[in-house]
Amino acid sequence: MIKYEIHGGNELNGEIHISGAKNAAIAIIPAAVLVDGICRIENVPKIKDVTLQLEILCDMGASVRLINEHTIELDCRRLYTTKAPYDLCRKIRASYYLIGSLLGRYKHAEVALPGGCNFGVRPIDQHVKGFETLGATVEIKNGFINADAGNGLVGTNVYLDIVSVGATMNIMLAAVLAEGQTIIENAAKEPHIVDLANFLNSMGASVSGAGTDVIKIKGVKRLSGGTYSIIPDQIEAGTYMAAVAAAGGEVLIKNVIPKHLECITAKLSEMGAETVFFDDAVLVRRHMPLQKANIKTMTYPGFPTDMQPQFTAVLCFAKGASIVTESVWDNRYKYVDELKRMGASITVDGRTAIVDGKGSLNGAPVKACDLRAGAAMVIAGLAADGVTDVEDIYHIERGYEDIVDKLRAVGADIRRVEVPDTEVMREAN
Ligand code: EPU
Repeated sequence: MIKYEIHGGNELNGEIHISGAKNAAIAIIPAAVLVDGICRIENVPKIKDVTLQLEILCDMGASVRLINEHTIELDCRRLYTTKAPYDLCRKIRASYYLIGSLLGRYKHAEVALPGGCNFGVRPIDQHVKGFETLGATVEIKNGFINADAGNGLVGTNVYLDIVSVGATMNIMLAAVLAEGQTIIENAAKEPHIVDLANFLNSMGASVSGAGTDVIKIKGVKRLSGGTYSIIPDQIEAGTYMAAVAAAGGEVLIKNVIPKHLECITAKLSEMGAETVFFDDAVLVRRHMPLQKANIKTMTYPGFPTDMQPQFTAVLCFAKGASIVTESVWDNRYKYVDELKRMGASITVDGRTAIVDGKGSLNGAPVKACDLRAGAAMVIAGLAADGVTDVEDIYHIERGYEDIVDKLRAVGADIRRVEVPDTEVMREAN
């Protein structure tokens, strides 16, 4: 077992470089299936979810050349199957993007029902509705989603009943090579949706309106290869900004798109942290006591649900009651019990959490329940008194590149520690 051991209390000072966006990369990699050529993709984050997406494609016959640490050349021209490997797909939510891209390119897809973080029910009815509206038949059988469009896909209007990031991107993927025009209405507007559209357009697609709630896709005959660089990760940047707010200090966060961080900086200023924007960097400093604040998660450009656990952790270090409202996921507060081990006083009622901030937390052994919950534990540990051990860190490493090294470089006392199996057994008994 590997855990993070954090000795809390150090201020953070220095610079952190942000990696490519996870949620863009894990859609752009399967999108390469649509491309009749080599895709050179730059700024690819070195994270487990990306490795898994590449493993899935290699298993199906794609070839990947590593050009340097963050650049790959991906060639999906010789896939020998439209059935994605069950065991790998189950491990990652974003394997569902293979349905859209395989269906778009080969008119057929068999992909295992996806895995990913557990926030309660995670339906994919809007994806299915989109594929069916374009002319596919979709059935779920033996743990696989089978999608077939024997007569081809034909562009049409798709109205999403719920604003869904995944459904918006999946329908875009299916529609790019369809006959005629597809219009997605009530589309999600997240930065990674714009990034996927830009990737597809750079390969020859005709997608317009990404970043608004109406996306138009004019079907083209073929996508050819090209080079594309993934945007910086909004949530990774926000996570380090939250860490500085909790631990104090002054950190320049480099390689960011400031526009994507506005909702996060607005909240940080309310909480007493200062931010200064540069062209592609943001300076975060916090020397004054933290203030309580209320947070409500929303789709972009609102406050991101993927920052909710990290900010709840920060609010434990403010004095007074803060109200956090989660409006995207049914059940994204599982980590609260872990924060309570550190002395947090938080009451959860449905989608609302009331954080009764005491100004401090105490180190404790805690678990990462999922990716962002794990990041929240790290933040709590950095600012807590004493030692925090974070277990189940595989969740964190699915989505954060070199988190330990990046934090150590700004003064955090955090180490990745291997715990001998005998010790784990003793604790379990
Ligand atoms: N929903 C439906 N039906 C659908 C699809 C979604 O009812 O067919 C509901 C969901 O249950 C949820 C809401 O719509 O209540 C939004 O879900 P969405 O489809 O937007 O989420 P997702 O595409 O499954 C992505 C990110 C999540 C992030 C959400 C919201 C990926 C792989 N995942 O999930 O990221 O929380 O968008 O922004 O891109 C993370 O990075 O930690 C993470 C969980």
